[in-house]
Amino acid sequence: MAETEKRIAGYNGLTQTEPTLPTHYYVDAEHHEKELARLWYRNWVYVCRAEELDGPRAYRVFDIGSQQVLALRDQEGKLQAFHNTCRHRGSQLVQNKEGRLPGGLITCPYHCWAYDLEGKLRRLSGASPPPDFEKSEHSLYEVGIQEWKGFIFVHLDHANSQPLESIFSDAHILDNWHLADLVVGHTLRKSIRCNWKIFWENFSECLHCPHVHRELSATVPLYKQYLMEVRDDPEWEAHQSAGDPLFKPGLAEGKETWSTDGIACGEFFPDLTPEEIELGHTYCEGLPSLFVVGHVDYARTVRVLPLGPEETEIQSQWLFRPEVLSQPGFDAARVAAFAEQVIAEDSAVAELNQKGLHSIRHKRGVLMAEEYAVHDFHVWLKGQLD
Ligand code: FES
Ligand SMILES: [Fe+2]
Repeated sequence: MAETEKRIAGYNGLTQTEPTLPTHYYVDAEHHEKELARLWYRNWVYVCRAEELDGPRAYRVFDIGSQQVLALRDQEGKLQAFHNTCRHRGSQLVQNKEGRLPGGLITCPYHCWAYDLEGKLRRLSGASPPPDFEKSEHSLYEVGIQEWKGFIFVHLDHANSQPLESIFSDAHILDNWHLADLVVGHTLRKSIRCNWKIFWENFSECLHCPHVHRELSATVPLYKQYLMEVRDDPEWEAHQSAGDPLFKPGLAEGKETWSTDGIACGEFFPDLTPEEIELGHTYCEGLPSLFVVGHVDYARTVRVLPLGPEETEIQSQWLFRPEVLSQPGFDAARVAAFAEQVIAEDSAVAELNQKGLHSIRHKRGVLMAEEYAVHDFHVWLKGQLD
């Protein structure tokens, strides 16, 4: 049955119970390898903001599953990316996680083969390679790299890559935030002891919100009702036409943004519509590695990378307009504190979820009506694995 046919018109919730993914998807090393090969190595993966690769010869190294990607800017400032592996006998090339490449060359630490910043082999060790050796056939292994609104993505199977914008739920939903112009004001990075899918499942429902996120649920009335959106409520038409404050869309009365006092940290983004201001948070997802949320005064990103079957790294960054960030006394960490608390709360329950999955009795769980977006995520995941 088509996904849409399972749902009542206008209502988002599931109208029949759906199983979760099998438990071994979250703990089994072999299954994890399959997800890396079929999904993480075949999708655009977000790595960093453009400003974090700043100017010619700047580089960063990223771990995507077991693969290391060297992303850099060449002498002209153009983005390039390669496997961090030498074409001679396969040594790791760059060992630091970030820096600037001296002399415009990537030199292997083992036998000193040297590559230019477009990946071409320029110098060999030893005086005389075999007569049939062709330097041009030993360029670095290329990785796709592309920028979207100031976000840099890489693709390990670039020859078969899909258009970058196609990974987003709605690639234009945050246009009014002019994301490319924003700068990083604060960064939080942490490793969570859970499978990467548990992070996304937790992101995709609010059944946990009233008791796990008390402050957040006081800021977002729907979250207190276990809902993410107005139409997650089976009686949404009645509640909305009555203007029931318990089901008010967006933020609670008197709140402008996600912050400890609910007050924005500067002027609102100038091009937001009244609806975007009223809603207070607009989400854009780019599975499997990124979501961005726009508030009236800042935007926040979360990058998700799998470290192993039971470990996930998340990095959240708070983005501001440069003029807001440069105000005297501006404290980005203070702005970030509210969402950092939410991340800490989500991380704690994600780790509990991972621990509980080790029961030999628990082969699968079951989804409730409000967990329709978890189901959508599962449908997406199965499509990726097939
Ligand atoms: S492995 Fe890199 S030069 Fe030998
Ligand atoms: Fe949460």
